[in-house]
Amino acid sequence: MQLEQQVQLEQPGQLEIMPVTIRRARIGDLQGMQNANLHNLPENYTMKYYLYHLLSWPEASFVAVSTDDMEENDEQKGDIQYVAPGEKIVGYVLGKMADDDTDADADKTPHGHITSLSVMRSYRRTGLAEKLMRECLYAICESFGGEYVSLHVRESNRAALHLYRDTLEFTVLSVEKGYYQDGEDAYYMRKDLKLDELVPSKFQKGQVDDLQTPLV
Ligand code: ACO
Repeated sequence: MQLEQQVQLEQPGQLEIMPVTIRRARIGDLQGMQNANLHNLPENYTMKYYLYHLLSWPEASFVAVSTDDMEENDEQKGDIQYVAPGEKIVGYVLGKMADDDTDADADKTPHGHITSLSVMRSYRRTGLAEKLMRECLYAICESFGGEYVSLHVRESNRAALHLYRDTLEFTVLSVEKGYYQDGEDAYYMRKDLKLDELVPSKFQKGQVDDLQTPLV
């Protein structure tokens, strides 16, 4: 993967261009990632679980970082989305390898799992989730030899289903009844990983300004 990628996002119906950088997640990003998760999803995790991801599989999680929409005194307000002066997390993907301790289906084939993905509302429908996912899938395959990747998604989550099934070509393997705390069923989805088919730069649709020489 490339170390950092700057993307100029054009939102449908808007002339404004939003610069967003996609890069590997760092320890200093975790609070911003947790904040985005709390904003966007009912499935939330302890800081210890975020740390576990980054310490165990540092290559498998990515963030989308924006420097736009800076409000005066925002940083003094202690907005926890800000991870550095002027930088805020607007999306993340938290990826991992399956480990026998935590995964019920102790399949010995090395495989990855997407714990969580979300994009802040005003940055959606610009391709960010797809980009985050493609970086993560590539990293799981390249860095950890993952042969496939799995995830769970709510049956009612049309946006995520479209992304996983139609855009990224995951397959629904089963329906897990009452998987979520509120009783909703989950689709258990999988995608086989083949490194040469996953190179993220093959899928760049929009304007991309590479900050570093691509490593792939
Ligand atoms: N309805 C239908 N299709 C949609 C929608 C929608 N609301 N949103 C995005 N899509 C489609 C896009 O059109 C695009 O399709 P294309 O490849 O055919 O052009 C594809 O999905 C990818 O779109 P992106 O712009 O990359 O997706 P986005 O950045 O908007 O993020 C996401 C999608 C992550 C699902 C976002 O809506 C979100 O954060 N939702 C709340 C959190 C969430 O549901 N996370 C997933 C939970 S499952 C898990 O974490 C394992």
